[in-house]
Amino acid sequence: MRTFVHTAQPARVVFGSGTVDGLAEEVRRLGGKRVLLLSGPGRAEAAGRARTALGALVVAEFGGAAAHTPVEVTERAMAVLREAGADCLVSVGGGSATGLSKALALRTGLPQVVVPTTYAGSEMTPVLGETHDGRTLTRSSPAALPETVVYDVDLTLSLPLSTSVTSGVNAMAHAVEALYSAGGDPATDRRALDAIALVAGALPRLAADAADREARSDLLQAAWLAGTCLAGAGTALHHTLCHTLGGAFGLPHAETHTVLLPHVLAYNAPSAPDVMRRIARALGAPDAASGVYDLVTSLGGPTSLRDLGMPESGLDRAAELAVVTPYPNPRDLTTDGVRGLLTDAWNGRRPQGPATTDTVLAQLTEQVVASFARAADARLRDLLTGLVRHLHAYVAEQDLTESEWARAIDHLTRTGQLSSPIRQEFVLLSDVLGISSAVDVLTNSRTPDTTPSAVLGPFYVEGPPEAEHGSDISGDLPGTPLWVDVTITDTAGEPLDDVIVDVWQADEDGFYDVQLPEQEGPVLRARLRTGADGRLTFWSILPAHYPVPGDGPVGEMLTAAGRHHYRAPHLHFMISAPGHRRLITQLFVSDGSYLDSDTVFGVKDPLVVDFVPRTGPGPDGRVPEGQWRLLEHTFRVAPLVL
Ligand code: BEZ
Ligand code: FE
Repeated sequence: MRTFVHTAQPARVVFGSGTVDGLAEEVRRLGGKRVLLLSGPGRAEAAGRARTALGALVVAEFGGAAAHTPVEVTERAMAVLREAGADCLVSVGGGSATGLSKALALRTGLPQVVVPTTYAGSEMTPVLGETHDGRTLTRSSPAALPETVVYDVDLTLSLPLSTSVTSGVNAMAHAVEALYSAGGDPATDRRALDAIALVAGALPRLAADAADREARSDLLQAAWLAGTCLAGAGTALHHTLCHTLGGAFGLPHAETHTVLLPHVLAYNAPSAPDVMRRIARALGAPDAASGVYDLVTSLGGPTSLRDLGMPESGLDRAAELAVVTPYPNPRDLTTDGVRGLLTDAWNGRRPQGPATTDTVLAQLTEQVVASFARAADARLRDLLTGLVRHLHAYVAEQDLTESEWARAIDHLTRTGQLSSPIRQEFVLLSDVLGISSAVDVLTNSRTPDTTPSAVLGPFYVEGPPEAEHGSDISGDLPGTPLWVDVTITDTAGEPLDDVIVDVWQADEDGFYDVQLPEQEGPVLRARLRTGADGRLTFWSILPAHYPVPGDGPVGEMLTAAGRHHYRAPHLHFMISAPGHRRLITQLFVSDGSYLDSDTVFGVKDPLVVDFVPRTGPGPDGRVPEGQWRLLEHTFRVAPLVL
């Protein structure tokens, strides 16, 4: 059981499109009458929207917000604030503008409305990192937490892809560190995983279409969620390193996050395997560290500290600074360990991540899938790829042992050995696993106006004996006489001429002729042809339920699984009409057994029909002894080209 304390931060969040237009109202809610509008360079358009929305409430502006909140900049802004007598702060921009707003709020206690235009997320936290003489001092105070945050997706639409990537990964980093931070809790975890999945899902969509508003909205939501994680749970090695490198070497904030995150994940992975698995799942990647690295690479984001301007000579100092003050981190922090991580990040190496069973399996799957990539037949490639993915996932999910797999191979081997032109154990396997019926369901769904098909089964014999209309195909086998009167039509109900109809069935004990040792030649099977009225008639006997062949591996399997072996009683039809698709189907006896538990899952409601009990003379004048049954049915077949 997990024990935790969750403190929700009290910010009001307004999220949507065009929300910046409601800024004046938000300022008034906080009692503000004299606004100091803060922004950083490059945010003129967004600042302009805010200025227009605020109108006469703006008494002064400061557009010089800078990265890492340098104290000198804050002091200049303080002078403007005092001079103007401002009573409310409104900031528009990324982390720099938000940071300046927080620094001013800390010094004055003024309320803040923050309008973030990137995904930095610091608007949701009471944390402020200020730089002075190349060192960063980080503090956390409720006074720094903005009262209101206005997220306006419109203001992020023009954010270039490169900034969106680094800023999005910055947000992801907040979520990642919250997941293994000492201050985490289940609610924060869920928001963190959502934020990671949102960023990983949205960035590729944005790369494909820069105008994708839903992707923008997802990213901004991720920024908000990740920001709340940062506020609630705290940080570890990653954020310390980013602040150290930013403060001591002037590296750009979001880019540094983007380069370092995969390497910090790789460093911490051995000590937080469960968290890494959850992150990997949220990313949709086999491994967290390489998953983030691959995402960044695929989006053209930065991968090396060297490219960000970090001098190689500074790596030792950076490693020392990062471990000088102890703080919680899943894996022990050593100067050598952090130096190794920084070396990898400086060179932009792809982290391999720990070779866990999951990652090795995932790689194996991808290797096998890739081996089919050049198959000339695209459908074959898709079928093989899907099969391999599902089988590998099955092996992993079931934690399959070697002896279990050997047993499965033995089962399949015997299934093959038993199969012959007159015994199809493989088809039977497909039938009892419901696969034949699943394929059949798909086929039927494509031809809804026709009679549903049903499995062929193993007892069809090519070239059955021709029979005349009205003849008796039972060969005098005992049983309840059955008069069959069927009509074959097209989908419009027009009768079809010259249709070949093969029928076959079991006897009253549930045996097909091929299973009767005493039986010479075919019986209870025949080929008939329709006339112009599309109709044919014959005498037979009522079929009984019967067990599928149980003397092979499939029977063994059914017995081991505690399943019965029975099929509901039925009559088979194979209908071949010129210019029409061949229909293989069955009609089930509505008062028969096993209709609800047919062992090959072949029963379909439209195929369950009454074999009506009758006495007295039959339709052709023959007078059976006692009761007989009447089966009347119309089959509708589909044209060859639908
Ligand atoms: C049959 O109806 O003949 C049958 C179908 C599937 C498996 C076994 C028998
Ligand atoms: Fe059958």
